[in-house]
Amino acid sequence: MKKTILVTGGAGFIGSHVVRRFVIKHPDYLIVNADKLTYAGNLENLADIEKFPNYIFEKTDIVDKKAVVDLFNKYQFDGVIHLAAESHVDRSIDSPDDFVMTNVVGTVNLLNAALASWNSHFAGKLFYHVSTDEVYGTLGKKGSFTEKTPYDPKSPYSASKASSDHFVRAYFNTYKLPIIISNCSNNYGPNQFPEKLIPLMINNIKNNKPLPVYGKGENIRDWLYVEDHAAAIDLIYHKGGIGETYNIGGNNEWKNIDLVRLLCRIMDRKLGRKEGSSEKLITFVKDRPGHDFRYSIDSSKLRNELGWQPSVSFEEGLEKTVDWYLENTRWLENVVSGEYEKYYEKMYLKRG
Ligand code: NAD
Ligand code: DAU
Repeated sequence: MKKTILVTGGAGFIGSHVVRRFVIKHPDYLIVNADKLTYAGNLENLADIEKFPNYIFEKTDIVDKKAVVDLFNKYQFDGVIHLAAESHVDRSIDSPDDFVMTNVVGTVNLLNAALASWNSHFAGKLFYHVSTDEVYGTLGKKGSFTEKTPYDPKSPYSASKASSDHFVRAYFNTYKLPIIISNCSNNYGPNQFPEKLIPLMINNIKNNKPLPVYGKGENIRDWLYVEDHAAAIDLIYHKGGIGETYNIGGNNEWKNIDLVRLLCRIMDRKLGRKEGSSEKLITFVKDRPGHDFRYSIDSSKLRNELGWQPSVSFEEGLEKTVDWYLENTRWLENVVSGEYEKYYEKMYLKRG
């Protein structure tokens, strides 16, 4: 094998697409997927590649310092693509502690292990940290986040991600650890846990359950198909500049209420329901506390310097996503049970 790469959080939504892409596109790399398998981690996401000779799964909690050091000693990684995180804003509002532990302490454990393992021999090594546009805070009606926008995180989730970004940059500045950070906008696509807007709405429409839209549904998000994010990570990993930051985004802003209505129309068509019937399920609920109004990503650095562009239109991506959730009923039923069921009741009974 030419390189051994650690992917953290590879059993999650974005991580599973990154792992699949690297395993298939780079057969000369050994991809080690380290994941704690929290409620959001699901090995079913990788069933199609789990037997590939260049793929290994290691159940690991990145908060466990010794486990992280042991992993580096075992594999002598050339690179790290770090995605493991607690990722849901509403959960971070309900209980921030896990976000501090995994997103901040877990990231520092990985940085320390990489630093010790590479022992100043940095040629060919890379620590790639996958982050979010939420570190920049919130926008009004105009403007977009660039790589130079000052950090201004507003939720416990984004504060923990901002903190991890700062640690990653500090290790570059202080110890010359070779790092790259990318900050991406909202992803959607197959394998996303149905606590996030798009899969939650698809699942509720399917089951004729209320569609909980926070506040007036005026908030705006910039949506990117998950495989385009994985492709950007692949490109940046191989062609990005050490110490650089790249914003990734779809240039595809939608008001939440417009997006939910669009999903209702697509689902009515796919399920053979009368046009307009799913829209009746829309229910405006209490707003998310401190709800960021708008995200918009300026990804011109990535487009101009590395030649990246999204390949999947929103129309095509939503069709694929809806089809995937309608076809993968077993996946959906398995994850929408147990712990998630309790979480859903708790969050939405509170919002009323
Ligand atoms: P996800 O919640 O679907 O998956 C997270 C994965 O991390 C899960 O497999 C989980 O088991 C694992 N994990 C959690 N805690 C762990 C721990 N202590 N040790 C090891 N593994 C642990 O998240 P996602 O949406 O796929 O996001 C992946 C990364 O991308 C995160 O860092 C997130 O901040 C970032 N990001 C997400 C989006 C988005 O729209 N989803 C956008 C930009 C950036
Ligand atoms: O911008 C990138 C971020 O996008 C990632 O870093 C996060 O990990 C990811 O979860 C996502 O954060 P958001 O908070 O934007 O995503 P979420 O799907 O939770 O919500 C999208 C929008 O929809 C947001 O304005 C809140 C709203 N919403 C969400 C849910 C779950 C609703 O109106 N109703 C809902 O039930």
